[in-house]
Amino acid sequence: MKTDIQQIVDNLSNVSQNFSGKTILLTGGRGFLGRYFMEIFNQLNQKFLKEKMKVIVLDNLITSGKEGAEIPIYDNISFQNHDVIKKFNFDNKIDFIIHAAGIASPYYYRAFPLETLEVAIDGTKNMLELAERNSARLTFFSSSEIYGDPDPKNIPTKESYRGNVSCTGPRACYDESKRVGETLCNIFHKIKGVHTNTIRPFNIFGPGMQETDYRVLPNFTSRIKANIPLQIYGTGNQTRTFCYVTDAMEGFIRVILNGVPGEAYNIGNPDPEISVIELIKKIEIILGKKVRYDIVNYPDSYPADEPNRRCPDIFKAKIQVKYKPKIQIEEGLRRFINWSDNVYLGIQ
Ligand SMILES: NC(=O)c1ccc[n+]([C@@H]2O[C@H](COP(=O)([O-])OP(=O)(O)OC[C@H]3O[C@@H](n4cnc5c(N)ncnc54)[C@H](O)[C@@H]3O)[C@@H](O)[C@H]2O)c1
Repeated sequence: MKTDIQQIVDNLSNVSQNFSGKTILLTGGRGFLGRYFMEIFNQLNQKFLKEKMKVIVLDNLITSGKEGAEIPIYDNISFQNHDVIKKFNFDNKIDFIIHAAGIASPYYYRAFPLETLEVAIDGTKNMLELAERNSARLTFFSSSEIYGDPDPKNIPTKESYRGNVSCTGPRACYDESKRVGETLCNIFHKIKGVHTNTIRPFNIFGPGMQETDYRVLPNFTSRIKANIPLQIYGTGNQTRTFCYVTDAMEGFIRVILNGVPGEAYNIGNPDPEISVIELIKKIEIILGKKVRYDIVNYPDSYPADEPNRRCPDIFKAKIQVKYKPKIQIEEGLRRFINWSDNVYLGIQ
């Protein structure tokens, strides 16, 4: 993880000067992606920025697990345990708001449907009002899930695709609340002149993912370590793309600094689009051994109605913010498995 952070920070040394002397409010800062932001901002302060940035991190720790609950102490970065569905008062000027708080794992949004709605709707509105008062740039973390289950004509999926989403299905609390969050950003941009950007991440993976939030890769690696068969929900033919976290973090920061006002950006890696079974085959090659798996029905704890295919069109982010993913899936999986080998076995 440390080498990955180093790599991101080195790649961003030029653009990051725009953070010099600025104040940043980061919500969801103890989640998987939020913890990367904290580490990157700390390194940028230490290595590159002439005038340090100040970062205020908010999180109510609802899903951040034991990794998120250990708050590091860094100069110029402060943490507050705060639920963003409540107003946040801050006396000094804020320049950037990164609203990454959310309930992102299907396992958790099944368990907390109302909290999932509230963080993406009330939380986003609170952050937009704060951005308006401060003339700050706000970046909202939406999701590829706002596209629902796209028809094959719209794969790879462009930002202009309107989606095929159920408002009552088992995933509706997440998909629909992210859609409303985007609508709010759009209204605040058009009517109140707030500089908003939306990011729609597509399956980001890497070291630091929580074993217990049941996203596919940590779920698989922890079962492999425990020597129990993987469980594939549904058919195993559903496809996904996987974007390694160093590429994604660079893309996010490029959008935060250089996104065109009011625009939404897909951030992911379109190559390759693979089925869950093909993903297992790639893991087998890296491990050099067969992995046992069973195809099972969706358990009660996991929302069914999964999209059949998911693949981003990233042309817009390439052109407008110079986003270009570089890490091949095999290399990303190798780094993730090496890390999870240590962590899930308790060595690190
Ligand atoms: N990681 C991905 O692949 C991915 C994909 C699509 C969308 N996203 C979105 O990006 C954002 C960050 O994703 P992540 O993977 O880091 O998620 P995560 O679940 O690891 O972290 C989210 C953090 O938000 C916090 N949070 C939730 N509700 C809150 C509230 N009301 N007030 C304050 N904090 C609250 C949680 O405690 C958690 O620490 C989320 O909004 C997520 O929906 C991520």
